[in-house]
Amino acid sequence: MELPVTAPDSGSQKTQYKIKTKNLSYKLHPQHSNLGWFGWWEEAKSPNRYILRNVNCEAKPGEITAITGPSGAGKTTLLDILAGMIVSCRVSGHVLVNDQPMNASHFRRVSGYVTQDEALFPLLTVEETLMYSARLRLHGALEKAKVRVTELMKELGLEHVAGMRIGSDTRRGISGGEKRRVSIGVDLVHDPYVLLIDEPTSGLDSASALHVVFLLKSMAKNQGKTIVLTIHQPGFRILEMFDKAVLLSNGIVLHHGSLHLLEERLKFAGHCIPRHVNVLEFSIDVIQSLQIDIQEHSTEMSESEEEYNPIWTISNLGNVEANHIFYPNSRFREVLILSQRFSKNVFRTKQLFFARTMQALLAGVVLGTIFMNANNDPKRVKLRTQIGFFAFSLSFLLSSTTEALPILLEERRVLMRETSRGAYRASSYVISNTLVFLPFLLIVALLYTTPVYWLVGLRRDIEGFLYFSLLVWIVVLMSNSFVACFSALVPNFIMGASLITGVMGSFFLFSGYFISKEDIPRCWIFMYYLSLFRYPYECFMINEFGGEKGKRRCLESVEGECLLDGNGFLLQQGLKESQKWSNLVVMLVFIFGYRLLCFIILWYKSYRMRS
Ligand SMILES: Nc1ncnc2c1ncn2[C@@H]1O[C@H](COP(=O)(O)OP(=O)(O)OP(=O)(O)O)[C@@H](O)[C@H]1O
Ligand SMILES: [Mg+2]
Repeated sequence: MELPVTAPDSGSQKTQYKIKTKNLSYKLHPQHSNLGWFGWWEEAKSPNRYILRNVNCEAKPGEITAITGPSGAGKTTLLDILAGMIVSCRVSGHVLVNDQPMNASHFRRVSGYVTQDEALFPLLTVEETLMYSARLRLHGALEKAKVRVTELMKELGLEHVAGMRIGSDTRRGISGGEKRRVSIGVDLVHDPYVLLIDEPTSGLDSASALHVVFLLKSMAKNQGKTIVLTIHQPGFRILEMFDKAVLLSNGIVLHHGSLHLLEERLKFAGHCIPRHVNVLEFSIDVIQSLQIDIQEHSTEMSESEEEYNPIWTISNLGNVEANHIFYPNSRFREVLILSQRFSKNVFRTKQLFFARTMQALLAGVVLGTIFMNANNDPKRVKLRTQIGFFAFSLSFLLSSTTEALPILLEERRVLMRETSRGAYRASSYVISNTLVFLPFLLIVALLYTTPVYWLVGLRRDIEGFLYFSLLVWIVVLMSNSFVACFSALVPNFIMGASLITGVMGSFFLFSGYFISKEDIPRCWIFMYYLSLFRYPYECFMINEFGGEKGKRRCLESVEGECLLDGNGFLLQQGLKESQKWSNLVVMLVFIFGYRLLCFIILWYKSYRMRS
């Protein structure tokens, strides 16, 4: 466990953290250097490569430590390691927190890490974003979260945009600088003792950049926080606020200490810093000469490469406490908060909410008018047309669910960030996600079935209609679970959409409509059992041609003599009345199974990020 150190000037009673690295190296092995999402198709071709070499640096409470250097120098990688995000056997050396080996899982909870890519929900307002973050990360009542968010918005200068939506590339929201401050706020909400920020000023104008750094400086000074940030080209006024700089080049530390010392070193090396260029900018320009300075040192390092001792495996696995996570909220509260947030996102995503409900209603009316009277002619039941309607209905219902994919992928980015910091359990996310979709998809199902059922003229009784609606609801829930499962697995929308369409297409082929069970080759028969189309397709037929009335209904007659009735048709199809309910159970198992699979994938991914 970390030991408290006393802040030099804040006088605060809070625990404070001093972070130190000793001979820290990060090496990419060829077999790991280029893994794709599924880990097998991108073979590595590069040799062993050091991203960081023998890095020694220190960040103290009450100070801002700036990591700087040219692009690709290893700044983000170093910050990732300091944040406890890269915990792998590829890291060697020591990361000490208050002179003790870092307990990454604990450290991630007491620190805030703002990455460069902003994982925010574009449709939530600034206040809502901070509020959900506060409710998920703070113990206690709503009031406490409200007070914290008000305080934070004031500190971050976000009060004037509190009610504005974050926005995205396609839909304008708050400005880039405000977005950056919201991202910082999200990770500051639990008042962490350590704050690590990757490029807090990138993309900001000089006034906004200065404002952000000034804010960080006051937090470091007044609250004794340890702040580490990476920065590319700070202006003069920003530079003045840094207490210490770590200058990196090709993963090697060229300077570690005050900026004054760096200036002295440059002068000593014979450089004259022009008046309009600041010392950090200049040092990056003349990085070559500083490199020569430490060449001797790096020769020693190559020798020590032989003794490459991965540290994390020992320090983390040895600590049982590290693997035991305490969550700020009970599971019930987590589900409640996440459901509220998710439903806001769903109802505000017009493509999903509006398009899905309108599409269901329109499809119901249009299909109803196309297949109208399929059953209304007393002399001739259009059996083929009706079966065609069932098959088409299913293909429409099961294939029109990819709309949820973008929102699920967006959620996953935030989920990974939040669960890796121990904000909540991945299972709570899966439960809340399911709970939100239950009523939403019931509305969608009813909007479709109400017009279509009566227009097509299916069995005219309320019991038949209710069963048909229940079936459609379960079908859309099933496809929703299927999409949720794939959204957890795939890296992006294009892959997700093509994979889902491909698998759904093959399921349709094995529905029993195109090829009967008897004609399916043995090696493909498993697809018949796995097909999401088969079970509801059978249920549709049993609902229509089964039951007391359906059984006796004549489906084919010649000169007044009935050749095929409902009962005969079901026998011909190999269907039993009891399948009406047993198939429903199978469909519920599919819903549960896909959700469970979704949870396992998400849990595994967040576990891998955590440990
Ligand atoms: N997992 C990885 N696989 C392959 N290469 C990696 C990996 N992580 C880091 N690198 C490489 O390590 C080098 C340092 O990356 P890093 O992102 O730390 O640089 P940086 O200093 O933050 O750059 P920038 O200023 O452009 O953000 C880069 O060349 C990068 O390609
Ligand atoms: Mg970077």
